Amino acid sequence: MTDFDLVEKINKLKKEKNAIILAHCYQSPEIDFVADYVGDSLGLSRLASKTDAKTIVFAGVYFMAETAKILSPDKTVLLPNKNSGCNMADMINLKQVREFKAKNPGVPLVCYVNSTAEVKAECDICCTSANAVNVIKSLNLKKVLFAPDCYLGNWAKKNLPDIEIISYPGFCPTHLRIIPDEIVKMKIMYKDAKILVHPECHQEVVKLADFVGSTTQIMQYCATANAKQFIIATEKGVVDRLKRDFPDKEFILASSKLVCHNMKWNTLEDILNSLLHNQHEVTVEENIRQKALNSIQRMIEVT
Ligand code: 13P
Ligand code: SF4
Repeated sequence: MTDFDLVEKINKLKKEKNAIILAHCYQSPEIDFVADYVGDSLGLSRLASKTDAKTIVFAGVYFMAETAKILSPDKTVLLPNKNSGCNMADMINLKQVREFKAKNPGVPLVCYVNSTAEVKAECDICCTSANAVNVIKSLNLKKVLFAPDCYLGNWAKKNLPDIEIISYPGFCPTHLRIIPDEIVKMKIMYKDAKILVHPECHQEVVKLADFVGSTTQIMQYCATANAKQFIIATEKGVVDRLKRDFPDKEFILASSKLVCHNMKWNTLEDILNSLLHNQHEVTVEENIRQKALNSIQRMIEVT
């Protein structure tokens, strides 16, 4: 079957089944032909909390589908390819989050949504890369714990110097692949280019940025900036979409290593099979869901 046939079948089936397809912008770009919404983790969480579709097909990674299920327990949530995990989310489990809290008794925990439902259930409030600084600030505290991404934690600390932020030592292997030297070399080649960096990158890379933001914030910056050249330090999917949407501007991926293989598992065929056979359904145990829901809802209220 060609991609064209697959797209036609999926779009037809989607209507018949009253399903919505949510896609993260790190997905392969052909997924956009069937997606109802493409965005960053924050935008996707908001959409998942509002939709009245019966089924949500989540073209993203497991923690994102789980977040959708937490927000919409009565809907069927499907992850097209069950291999779509996240290395960062896997770096902290229930035992580890409890140990982290026990070492810092009484200090509230802010948890990046790139984590499992079990971990979210243990925290006080969630955040995404788009709102981490605002979420921490909203707590009005002198000290917080942050998990699992210590680089996003560092970025928040830089923006909130009066707050002590104790970070768990997790990280995103994809974003850490970019080293400052690569950006410096790019800047010599493209001297007028703006440098845009995701906060999951190393702080030495963040220091070189003209703008630091989530995937959607980076895309919005490129859409409105007067500059014509942009060096992008986040996952390749963002650059693929920017090149497609703004053909008059030039987008340079900061390193060819910026590919998240977890995000690339889902194919159009998987999405079709997921709609045809209701696979792979994501479930969350009710007790955990309730607690995780509080943390996610608190975040949504802040933003
Ligand atoms: P955002 O969608 O918050 O930019 O997150 C990046 C990411 O790593 C998602 O897995
Ligand atoms: Fe996880 Fe990093 Fe991939 Fe995002 S980019 S899904 S944090 S491994």
